[in-house]
Amino acid sequence: MPFVVSARVMQTPAADRLQVIGDAVIAVDDGGLITAVEPSGTAAGRSLLDSGAAQLRTPPDTVLIPGLVDLHVHAPQWPQLGTGLDLPLERWLFEVTFPLEARYADLTFARPVWSDLVDGLLRHGTTTAAYFATVDVAATSALARAAVQAGQRAFVGRVAMDHPEGTPEWYRDASAPAGVDRSARSIAEILAIDAGRGLVQPIITPRFTPACTDDLLRGLGELAVSTGVRVQTHCSESDWAHVYALHRFGTTDTNALDGFGLLRPGTVLAHANHVTDDDADLIRERGAGIAHCPLSNAYFADAVLPVRRLRGRGVEMGLGTDVAGGASPSLLHQAHDAVTVSRLLDDGTDAHLPPEGRGVGGSAIDTTHAFWLATVGGGSVLRAPVGLLAPGYRFDAVLIDAASRRGSMRVFPGIDSPERTFEKIVRLAGPVDIVGVWVDGRRVVGGEPD
Ligand code: GUN
Ligand code: FE
Repeated sequence: MPFVVSARVMQTPAADRLQVIGDAVIAVDDGGLITAVEPSGTAAGRSLLDSGAAQLRTPPDTVLIPGLVDLHVHAPQWPQLGTGLDLPLERWLFEVTFPLEARYADLTFARPVWSDLVDGLLRHGTTTAAYFATVDVAATSALARAAVQAGQRAFVGRVAMDHPEGTPEWYRDASAPAGVDRSARSIAEILAIDAGRGLVQPIITPRFTPACTDDLLRGLGELAVSTGVRVQTHCSESDWAHVYALHRFGTTDTNALDGFGLLRPGTVLAHANHVTDDDADLIRERGAGIAHCPLSNAYFADAVLPVRRLRGRGVEMGLGTDVAGGASPSLLHQAHDAVTVSRLLDDGTDAHLPPEGRGVGGSAIDTTHAFWLATVGGGSVLRAPVGLLAPGYRFDAVLIDAASRRGSMRVFPGIDSPERTFEKIVRLAGPVDIVGVWVDGRRVVGGEPD
């Protein structure tokens, strides 16, 4: 059924532009597509309200924002969220992460974790997620089913990894051909699970170059060409990963991935903290993008991603939680963290250095820029029409109760302008303030799903 939503909208059509529409009327067709957005006081707005479509009037003191796009989630790491982050990445993977991920071959273990994760992320306002699942085909399909069932927009990837040194023998593909074959099977299964709506789609997922042989990486690049399915992987995350690629391939991780045919339109490169300017230009030329994971990077990346520098070179970028490398499931937290770490990069961190040589001036971003990354930026990386409440976009939206007193957010009449209220949403809103979530026009949190 088509419907019309009346709401106070806050969103960021550009990285430097906060748009507040005090009394928006949003028309959504029966397929979940936004067909019009007009102020209610105009003739166009009134005619939408009089169109006879079902009406949803959001309560006073609520704010409707676009759904959040999480570009990087390790679904099987959900049970370890918040733990184990004192180890370096290589030890964390082998000692903590791989043993947990291997358990999902048991579907009785996997299924309840998957539905709890999808439900948890939706309640944080994540309407689109790009998931790394596990090596197991059936467990990956079960995650796709959980997303379909809960109504979350998702890109679900079977993790491909076969390198005899970069993976343990009890959690890897048996060979490169076997890995390519299992990824192809996983794609076919996921396409069949959501054949009708396409809300949940497969994504080809080589874990990262240290975990994959050349033959596997090449085979997956060919699979991406033959199927047209998107790709996601990690790229130059840490000093270790960056130097590893230089030693193994004689070139950067980005160049190596490109040589295997994996840098394509819509490819999501997680982290990418150590990419060079030449890498950045190549990423832009190929139409790939970066998932900036600011909190995770503080633990594993050895550096702060230079958001402004990369975006200045035209690189597409959105945000990722990197559950569980980052210890928060909230993309709003990531937006706040993106602001925070950009300030650290700008100012520098070592007080024993003179201020003029301490940081990288011109690196700071504000909450508007960070929210743009969390919405429009993420949608652009995935080439999906999400992240903005505007005609031609899908109706993926999150309703915040700005008067809720259950969380940390408070709005003081007479003190807080709309701009300040927006800043408070980005920095302070959490699940207790989120009273409604819609994906593709369907309400998935805070009401009876229709
Ligand atoms: N590199 C390879 N695998 C992973 C992972 O699971 N998390 C992070 N942060 N980096 C990785
Ligand atoms: Fe990751």
